[in-house]
Amino acid sequence: MIRSRIVGTGSYLPEKVLTNEELEKIVDTTDEWILTRTGIRERRITANGEASSTLATNAARRALDMAGVSPEELDIIVVGTVTPDMFFPSVGCLVQDALGAKKAVAFDLSAGCSGFVYGLSVADNFLKNGQYKKALVVGTENLSKVTDYQDRGTCVLLGDGSGAVVLVAEEGHQGILSTHLHSDGSYKDLLFQPGGGSRVPPTYESIDERLHYLKMDGNKLFKIAVKSLEDVVLEAIAHNNIKDSDIDLLIPHQANLRIIQAIAKRLNLPEEKVFVNIHKYGNTSSASIPIALDEANRAGRIQEDNLLLLNAFGAGLTWGSALVRW
Ligand code: ACO
Repeated sequence: MIRSRIVGTGSYLPEKVLTNEELEKIVDTTDEWILTRTGIRERRITANGEASSTLATNAARRALDMAGVSPEELDIIVVGTVTPDMFFPSVGCLVQDALGAKKAVAFDLSAGCSGFVYGLSVADNFLKNGQYKKALVVGTENLSKVTDYQDRGTCVLLGDGSGAVVLVAEEGHQGILSTHLHSDGSYKDLLFQPGGGSRVPPTYESIDERLHYLKMDGNKLFKIAVKSLEDVVLEAIAHNNIKDSDIDLLIPHQANLRIIQAIAKRLNLPEEKVFVNIHKYGNTSSASIPIALDEANRAGRIQEDNLLLLNAFGAGLTWGSALVRW
């Protein structure tokens, strides 16, 4: 059976650190509130000139280096992002050009924080059906550019960064075992960026009304996130006929430590089987899982044949999971 195997991981975080203490000076918040409600201590923020595509290109180069795959070998590049450099061309095409991945078909997909898991699923299907042999999947975000630093309900949560994986189609038992995706557009108003698109194009009024910033109903999202993430990890477990205890490492979307802990508890996973780096980077949307995967990989937390469970939840609403035999 042909499977998509992850043969390289890479990540890239901007240098500038924004701490909770710095945010205390910008909005009415405290380090204590942010830490206890979310688990976040600091996040990274892009400098002028850095964009989603530049972060993505750096992460991709690191993943390609680890994989020993040259950009010219790539057949397909899929980029999950809600903060593209511009509406078009896609970040995928910008990354393709920057890498010199001449033969790769490249495109973006918009699935909020689930962008990486959605991208992994799309690339996996192309590889499994034999159409392509080598894929680059990236999650990349420049969220600080759509973050309202007057809104304490969102600005303390979000950060910038990028993560990438290289997939190759191979016969064998290792690789992506299954992916499970869901969407529910009826919750579109819980997390969205009202301005800047074709419905509310930029005007002086739209800017004065701060419509170009992300809006979120965090409290409602929290409850839906816990339920949806629970359902989609149990779906992966049932589909593959495994037990909770078979999972070696959960690599969850890093939106809120309390959400991560709720899912870990549901699966009876001890702390050492759950990868957490939200304290350093906050919520980097579609970049959070590939950044965490890369950090876990480089820290030696993943051994050959380990079973990894990835889960994500985000704007749309969208949610999904992937089960991977390393
Ligand atoms: N500092 C201090 N107080 C704050 C802050 C802050 N930064 N933000 C909100 N508060 C206040 C609120 O105003 C409220 O005050 P009130 O009781 O006087 O009205 C109080 O704290 C409680 O607010 P809640 O929103 O109920 O707090 P909650 O415990 O739900 O935590 C949070 C908020 C962290 C946003 C949480 O709801 C959450 O993580 N939600 C899920 C987010 C998520 O998963 N989003 C989807 C993915 S993100 C993406 O796709 C980009």
